Amino acid sequence: MHVRDFTSMLNLSPEGLSDMLELALGMKRDGPSQVLSGQTLAMVFQKPSLRTRTSFEMAMRRLGGGAIYLSPAEVQMGEREPVQDVARVLSRMVQAIAARTFEQSMVDDLARYADVPVVNALSDEEHPCQALADMLTLRERFGTLRGVRLAYVGDGNNVARSLAYGAVMAGMELVIAAPKGYELPAETIDRAHALGGGGHVTQVNDPHEGVRGAAAVYTDVWTSMGQEAETAIRKEAFGGFQVNLELLASAPADALVMHDLPAHRGEEITDEAIESPNSVVFDQVENRVHAQQAVLATILGGVSR
Ligand code: CP
Ligand code: NVA
Repeated sequence: MHVRDFTSMLNLSPEGLSDMLELALGMKRDGPSQVLSGQTLAMVFQKPSLRTRTSFEMAMRRLGGGAIYLSPAEVQMGEREPVQDVARVLSRMVQAIAARTFEQSMVDDLARYADVPVVNALSDEEHPCQALADMLTLRERFGTLRGVRLAYVGDGNNVARSLAYGAVMAGMELVIAAPKGYELPAETIDRAHALGGGGHVTQVNDPHEGVRGAAAVYTDVWTSMGQEAETAIRKEAFGGFQVNLELLASAPADALVMHDLPAHRGEEITDEAIESPNSVVFDQVENRVHAQQAVLATILGGVSR
């Protein structure tokens, strides 16, 4: 598999995605090996993080390398200096860059100007590392992704977009239940369907219809980082879209409950739902490390497939 950057799920093909997930499973099963000995990842973040920062750092350590975290205040990408200079400076010092940004164009520009691989650690458009960990979680539970029906209830946001691309490539059936005006744009759905892989994305505006027959019910925050000014209006718009026991009663009794975290308990998900025996949210968390080990080993040449 040849992948230089992972700035978007679109960097993978259906075959590349499948290889990446198998590699992650294998690395999880066999434990870490020192394939990235002597290599360092720089993590340039414009937004806060608990899981992404920690999992990238742990993934590098487990593979024998290291990581340097650069906080929003330190780098001020695009303000203190242009993004192309950040890319070129880091390229002279480290072997890969993980970036968490607002605009997708900033991750894309980093990749354009850097001589080292760039990974998207979340942008306004995408969260491909999260989607990879989520798909790993589903793959572990069901043995396959092909034909697995995932219901995503809530905002047609970065997480939903990366899941849509990944789901189509993996042959899954993704149903997105979002309020009118908060769906993924039609062009995103068209782009997903053009990726091949045989999967399908449907969008509905009724959450109960969305979760019917689902093997897993996924939700994310209604207000993403950077959208704080819209909090009140979004709470209103997403009123009927809370993942709670009543909504889960419309799904099969064994449907998994998923959330990428951080969760706003009492808003998009209730305590009862996130703490239910079917909840796999902390498996998703753990799989961030394993999925990112596969990404880092692949882009840094620690595996040859
Ligand atoms: N799920 C996720 O990316 O969490 P953080 O924002 O804490 O990294
Ligand atoms: N959609 C959320 C995901 C957080 C991990 C956000 O962008 O804030």
